[in-house]
Amino acid sequence: MSEALAERWSPWGREYARTPDRFIWGTGPSSLARDIARRLPSRARVLDLGCGEGRDSVFLAERGHAVVGLELSVDGLRKAARLAADRGVLASWVCAALPSLPLRGPFDLVFSCGSIHYVASADRPRLFQELTGEDPAAHARRIVDELATALVKDLNNAGVPAERLPPGAPLPPEGWLIRGVFTEADSGNVVRRAIIGFGSGKTEMEVQVGVSDLANRPDESFLLFGTVTDPSRLPGGVVTRNPYVVAAKFVLEKGAPQRDVQHTAQTIATELVKFRDQVRRGQVTLPATR
Ligand SMILES: C[S@@+](CC[C@H](N)C(=O)[O-])C[C@H]1O[C@@H](n2cnc3c(N)ncnc32)[C@H](O)[C@@H]1O
Repeated sequence: MSEALAERWSPWGREYARTPDRFIWGTGPSSLARDIARRLPSRARVLDLGCGEGRDSVFLAERGHAVVGLELSVDGLRKAARLAADRGVLASWVCAALPSLPLRGPFDLVFSCGSIHYVASADRPRLFQELTGEDPAAHARRIVDELATALVKDLNNAGVPAERLPPGAPLPPEGWLIRGVFTEADSGNVVRRAIIGFGSGKTEMEVQVGVSDLANRPDESFLLFGTVTDPSRLPGGVVTRNPYVVAAKFVLEKGAPQRDVQHTAQTIATELVKFRDQVRRGQVTLPATR
């Protein structure tokens, strides 16, 4: 990339060029880098996105991690390489304009202090997917597995006996069947099934949850949780007729870490238990499905 183009993309590049003998971000690590360093396994593979003049890359390299610092500005990288040499550590420096990536993961940590907002949010899932090295189908399976496992655990913890049924398993004769579908709204606000892990469309998806009665039309949800109030607008997977609708927003980033998936599961479990209790107290009358 020409220096002029790099300057237009990142105003910092001009600053780095103007100040070859001064580190505008300092030479000590950011508090983010200090914090994350405490949680890293030894000899982790780290990618510092938008590493600037390299203060955090060098700090992490000094702790024995294998660091790649990626930066748009070559003047920033010159300073970074000098800082590393002064401290006697090795790191790799890559000059590139995100979201294009001249390297692939997996990395143990993809780190960005004050830089990720330069990448459009729609481009981030693909970026992280490439960096974690996880293929899209495996990524989708992981999110579904984590969510289902956490939901079953949370329901059991709340005193609601729950188990996960493997695909194709025969349905028990009675009980409630909980199903979910990941959705996202396109630019025309049309709800469609979210494509998890392919990096297309939005970075966030919503989980619409349908509950049916196994003893009475198990294919028809009598209860829907989500923001899609008209069941006919739901993409396949949750077949419904006149369900009871509870407005609830269960949102998940497509590249969500396990902690966020568990939080979403916990929110779903809380709403389900709340609803079950309202039914028990007679505060809610369910529509007949027959
Ligand atoms: C606020 S500075 C932070 C620098 C460094 N992370 C630190 O904390 O010292 C943001 C950095 O992101 C870089 N940057 C901006 N857009 C970029 C892009 N598209 N690709 C790579 N780096 C980019 C800028 O050149 C700048 O060095």
